[in-house]
Amino acid sequence: MALLSLMGSLFLLPGYFCDLNGPTTVFAVVGTSVYVNCTYDQKYEANVKYWCRRMNRDCPIIVQTSGSEKLEKVERISIRDNHALLQFTVTMDNLTSMDTGTYNCGVNVNGGPNQLAPVDVTGR
Ligand SMILES: *[C@@H]1O[C@H](CO)[C@@H](O)[C@H](O)[C@H]1NC(C)=O
Ligand SMILES: *[C@@H]1O[C@H](CO)[C@@H](O)[C@H](O)[C@H]1NC(C)=O
Repeated sequence: MALLSLMGSLFLLPGYFCDLNGPTTVFAVVGTSVYVNCTYDQKYEANVKYWCRRMNRDCPIIVQTSGSEKLEKVERISIRDNHALLQFTVTMDNLTSMDTGTYNCGVNVNGGPNQLAPVDVTGR
């Protein structure tokens, strides 16, 4: 009974748990590339998407879109939004061991907290 009512309340909040989703972990091999797809709710289609690296409490942005589907690239790292798929792809090329760490897929939300999805880039 308790379980049923819990499920009922979850269904009353459509999209609440999936406004932004990404892989929780991606594996990086030095010298190769990693690709990260993050999917977002349709209401964020035109918002700025970004990729930032967590440093203590901060997450300085590495690359970000302008809200369009234009490819944005900073050195080895790029981001491209796809409005039809409701996802953006981050590519990190020529990986080094320094690239492992925790990043966030982010969506810039005007007048509210940004949407964040943590992604661990781990070496092996
Ligand atoms: C990202 O999404 C594209 C398009 O759906 C797909 O072709 C690609 O395999 C995905 N890449 C990863 C790493 O999931
Ligand atoms: C990756 O490394 C190769 C070989 O050093 C270099 O030719 C290429 O330009 C690099 N690519 C990027 C995106 O930095």
